Amino acid sequence: MVSMVEFKGRSLVSINDLTKEEVDYVLDFAMEIKKDPLRFANQMKGMIMAPLFFEDSTRTSSSFQASILKMGGSVLDFDSDRSSVKKGETLRDTLKTIGGYNPDFVIIRHSKDGSAKFASDILDMPVINAGDGQNQHPTQTLLDLFTIKEILGGIDSCRIILAGDLKYGRTVHSLALALARFSNCRLYFISPDNLRMPQEILRELGNSRCGFSEHNLDELQGILEKINIVYMTRIQRERFPEGPEGDQMYESVSKNYCLKLDMLEGVDPRFKIMHPLPKVREIEEAIDDTKYAYYFQQARNGLFIRMALLVLIGGKNE
Ligand code: NCD
Repeated sequence: MVSMVEFKGRSLVSINDLTKEEVDYVLDFAMEIKKDPLRFANQMKGMIMAPLFFEDSTRTSSSFQASILKMGGSVLDFDSDRSSVKKGETLRDTLKTIGGYNPDFVIIRHSKDGSAKFASDILDMPVINAGDGQNQHPTQTLLDLFTIKEILGGIDSCRIILAGDLKYGRTVHSLALALARFSNCRLYFISPDNLRMPQEILRELGNSRCGFSEHNLDELQGILEKINIVYMTRIQRERFPEGPEGDQMYESVSKNYCLKLDMLEGVDPRFKIMHPLPKVREIEEAIDDTKYAYYFQQARNGLFIRMALLVLIGGKNE
């Protein structure tokens, strides 16, 4: 049995930092918060969160901020574009300085794989990984699992397509590893040939109980009728070289990758489309207003997951 105390003061760097029982606990607690968020209005009184975003963010950064503000806490105003990072300060020095002001939580997003681990090794307070390079995005995974559970009533036995940039997309890396810990999940990886799921993740999945297979983009339609959820991700333009040559490479991999409304005939009655967002051109706009689109509800669930994490890690709710 997991109790709240076990989360107190801990960092969350990788989804593997949490046991399956702990993941279930966070999801249940987030559901409790979603039902009655006002009950937690004073939970973060006197607490300060330091969001250190060295890479762009809309949802992760604003939902973390909304989470602590809604619970009576405060946010340190750090903007890497207006900070000494611009003058060439190292990550280590920035972390040591901010750490010295004793925030209760540090939330970090950085383009380097392993940066969140690096921060958690340096700092005394809990560090939450909001995305480190191509590696992991564990809080996104928790909100994705929460959303899958909301859609299907449970996560065991879910049949899901993970599509898009599976090589560089950190959301799909953490999500695939997390799903492997549930029973009987079936994962279909659909990507351009040069953006496949990394071998180390496939190896880990091979040692788990979940089934998986890899497919080309043109197989998307055929697989849609076998699954309950399609998790779309964008092809990440910034991973290709800058300039016309990179533009051309991006164009050639992304031009045939789009989920269209007329492909959705014959899908499972519970079928939904998820996406960590931002979406660019991989989902036809006509889908946004249909019952299949679930990505904005998914983004909203980020609020409850992040409220849950702050309360559990902040440890006031014993
Ligand atoms: C993603 C990210 O930053 O990893 N967005 C998010 O946090 N919801 C996905 C992306 O950038 O494509």
